[in-house]
Amino acid sequence: MKNIFISDIAAHEGEEIILRGWVRHIRHSGKLLFINLRDGTGELQCVAFAPELGEEAFETAKKLTLESSVIIAGTPKPHQKQAGKFELSVKTITPIQIAQDYPIGKKEHGPDFLLSNRHLWIRSSKQWAILRIRHTVYYAICDYLNENHFFRFDSPILTPNACEGTTTLFEVDYFDEGKAYLSQSGQLYLETGIMSLGRVYDFGPVFRAERSKTRKHLTEFWMMDAEAAFVEHDENMQIQEGLIRYVIRRVLKDCAAELAILERNVENLKAADAPFGRMSHREAVEFLRSKGSEIDNGSDLGAADELMLTQDSPVPIFIDRWPKDIKAFYMKRAPEDPNLVLGNDLIAPEGYGEIIGGSQREDDHDLLQQRMEAEKMSLDEYQWFLDLRKYGSVPHSGFGIGFERLVSWMGGVAHIRETIPFPRMIYRIYP
Ligand code: 4AD
Ligand code: MG
Repeated sequence: MKNIFISDIAAHEGEEIILRGWVRHIRHSGKLLFINLRDGTGELQCVAFAPELGEEAFETAKKLTLESSVIIAGTPKPHQKQAGKFELSVKTITPIQIAQDYPIGKKEHGPDFLLSNRHLWIRSSKQWAILRIRHTVYYAICDYLNENHFFRFDSPILTPNACEGTTTLFEVDYFDEGKAYLSQSGQLYLETGIMSLGRVYDFGPVFRAERSKTRKHLTEFWMMDAEAAFVEHDENMQIQEGLIRYVIRRVLKDCAAELAILERNVENLKAADAPFGRMSHREAVEFLRSKGSEIDNGSDLGAADELMLTQDSPVPIFIDRWPKDIKAFYMKRAPEDPNLVLGNDLIAPEGYGEIIGGSQREDDHDLLQQRMEAEKMSLDEYQWFLDLRKYGSVPHSGFGIGFERLVSWMGGVAHIRETIPFPRMIYRIYP
């Protein structure tokens, strides 16, 4: 008999096979025992009949509890009641370990309890579905980039200086070198990579010591930074749009069951796979003011502003041409106005907020140096970054995706903490 995965069950109809997994649910009625078994790839109803199993084995099997681990042998058959589904007609049941009072049950638990039991909570079907969507989004992003001439270029996590301002840095003691910092984004290193590989991306954890206690913020989250030589602002946004729409299509294609478990409105996802909206920061401010907001031309958008901007839009919206004072030092100034930069945010619909930050980069050595001096940055520490503008500088652009924010939107998950196996937030680091 062969060990198989539940997801492959249809190919084994009528054969004797072995499944290995955990008890999601168990009940018995007379001579029948029903076990819902899950094995990571899916869930299957296994039906045991006392005379076939033997009375003693049947009594032992009845002692299985929620989340006990077990090996079950039997024959897949079409499900009695659900067309197109299978169930297992059980031959033998071998308990591996009997779980004692699994703490997560049918009753409602508060978020604090669930987060403290995150190591167990990840087994529940909604969390399982979210983790599977995370997996799909991850590989969809990599596939799109790999198909579009981007090469993986891993940036370091321990860094000597800041990428996104000094206020959100996590500091560590670094031997005799003094302080090191956990990376906020690999972007600056990616800019070196394009001079070797042309187009590059990284994908990994980044860290921000942000005191933001919202449903969109983690202190450790994953970012995919991409960077491309000879790409200017408009093409940069085209790449972002192409990538996000590719991800949407992949999730719709590969995660139908997961989306159903999460009760995700898939029509909204389908509608987002259409040309994205676009407005300048100034236009966004005008629109918001016309709706009663008191935002001004020099301000960043808050969560409420982002929501208002996308309220009637089925597609994400690019906001570009930002005031330079509220954006990072590396962004290229707009040709029409030196107080604006060619940066873009991409705001997802349905209230999921900013999922991408990108920009064309300043490629002129002297202009970049002036901007760094104005921001009182140490030119010594960033000499290597300035060097790139001395040896074959080219127009170039890039962007960073907030991976968990994108997963939240795809799955329709209200809080970002459920989109990463072990969320790190200002008030939580256990487990
Ligand atoms: O907009 P940000 O700060 O852009 C950068 O870091 C650029 N260096 C990226 C680049 O051009 N290569 O961050 C990128 C994205 C945001 O749009 C947001 O989606 C996400 O990262 N993000 C967070 N996600 C979760 N928790 C936080 N605390 C986040 N801060 C930013
Ligand atoms: Mg941003």
